[in-house]
Amino acid sequence: MRFRLARKEAGAPARNSGRVDPSNERLDFRAAFERAERWIEAYYQDPRQFPVLARVAPGYLARALPAEAPEAPEPFDTIFADFERLILPGITHWNHPRFFAYFAISAAPIAVIAEALAAALDVNAMAWKTSPAATELEDVTLEWLRKLVGLDAGFHGIVYDTASISGFTALAAAREALDLEIRERGMAGRDDLPILRVYQTEHTHSHIEKGAIALGIGRENVVKVACDENFAMQPAALDAALAADLARGLKPMCVVATVGTTSTTSSDPVPAIAEIAKRRGVWLHVDAAYAGPAAILPEFRHILAGSEGADSLVLNPHKWMFVPVDLSVLYLRNMDVLRRAFSLAAVYLELPDEPVHNYMDYGLQLGRRFRALKLWFALRHYGAEGMRARLRGHIALAQEFATWIDAAPDWEVMAPHPLSVVCFRHAPAGLEGEALDAHNGRIMDDVNASGEAFISSTRLNGRLALRLAIGNERTTRDDVRAAWRLFRRAAAPAAAN
Ligand SMILES: Cc1ncc(COP(=O)(O)O)c(C=O)c1O
Repeated sequence: MRFRLARKEAGAPARNSGRVDPSNERLDFRAAFERAERWIEAYYQDPRQFPVLARVAPGYLARALPAEAPEAPEPFDTIFADFERLILPGITHWNHPRFFAYFAISAAPIAVIAEALAAALDVNAMAWKTSPAATELEDVTLEWLRKLVGLDAGFHGIVYDTASISGFTALAAAREALDLEIRERGMAGRDDLPILRVYQTEHTHSHIEKGAIALGIGRENVVKVACDENFAMQPAALDAALAADLARGLKPMCVVATVGTTSTTSSDPVPAIAEIAKRRGVWLHVDAAYAGPAAILPEFRHILAGSEGADSLVLNPHKWMFVPVDLSVLYLRNMDVLRRAFSLAAVYLELPDEPVHNYMDYGLQLGRRFRALKLWFALRHYGAEGMRARLRGHIALAQEFATWIDAAPDWEVMAPHPLSVVCFRHAPAGLEGEALDAHNGRIMDDVNASGEAFISSTRLNGRLALRLAIGNERTTRDDVRAAWRLFRRAAAPAAAN
């Protein structure tokens, strides 16, 4: 099949008459797609051919590319050659099996095919009628996912791009649920409006605070509830904070509990928090962006315990279900309150009154990509068993890595590691405080500069912790062993092995 993309209608004005070589605009779609397909296939066979962390200096690409968009069409071969020559060197390879930073992820090849198909269809799933299959597939796959992770049937799922937007949306719903007429009257200059408060811990992901900023809550009204020694929220401290705020006439808007915090994967005690939120009449949002998918494992189903008391809960298939970025799922009990917060029918978007979901009414954005397709492909291709096997493998590798740290002199694990992330450091005698942090910072920089592996860090009780996160479907025991060798070499160059 040949697609001719040139404007060929009779009489269409030729923009660059005299300069356009129309043969360049002609795309041999099959040849071009096959070239890209061959490239992707080779890439997936061994992403190790690339350094994990891009080795370019800031501004490298802007210097290499022309300052203006091309006037004349350019042939696919030229564009693709520049993709290889200029773009790839500036890619940090999240698909690399030795990518151990942040939360490691990987795109399932089957989901890449789904992404290509979704791009080809190019539907905008803003309303049911603008592509019924997109909306209905979203409903079906999110029901599958809900059952797989064991959430109760009171939750309805909706897809957003990221957990940050899911969290923002949950906060907006929590604010709307207070019935303070903020939607119509706003917040500024109102003396009838109490100060709204959000409760989290210092380990809650920063998107909640950003959401509070965007919604006019203000950073100083984001209360950091104390954690215990395992980096989990102390329910008694939450209850005390709520009681103190209520006594001052402040209005609790939302409690955020995390299942699988970003630094250590610790989990707040959701059942106890849910009981408090219910008793105090406060919206409970659970951020299970990373760890939620682990609930597909029967032995980890318990991590979502207490979710029956939550008003909203987020989990990210793009973190730990091999769905390419981006796809986050927000489960919500009361879709009406979300609709109340966001629906606004412009005259040019009026829709018939049908028993369907028009998801443009449930968030800030109007246009929506057909994201559910890649989740559907991935869930079907791997099956729940395949997903479980991969997650179990990651958790087992992380646990094994922690035993190596435990057994090695001068190395220490710095936090409980229930899932696929281990926080650790090299702590030789004689080094402490900032000198110890600097030593571990150097280890991280050395490892990352090697191009062989990529890790990140966090701070626990103010001290630097190295962080190894396993979540890539191609990561093997050998990859983790290789990383361990790199850490030891960087820690003690003289004893390199
Ligand atoms: C616990 C947690 N919540 C939310 C987020 C934000 O995720 P996203 O990048 O999808 O906005 C992250 C990111 O790592 C996270 O770790």
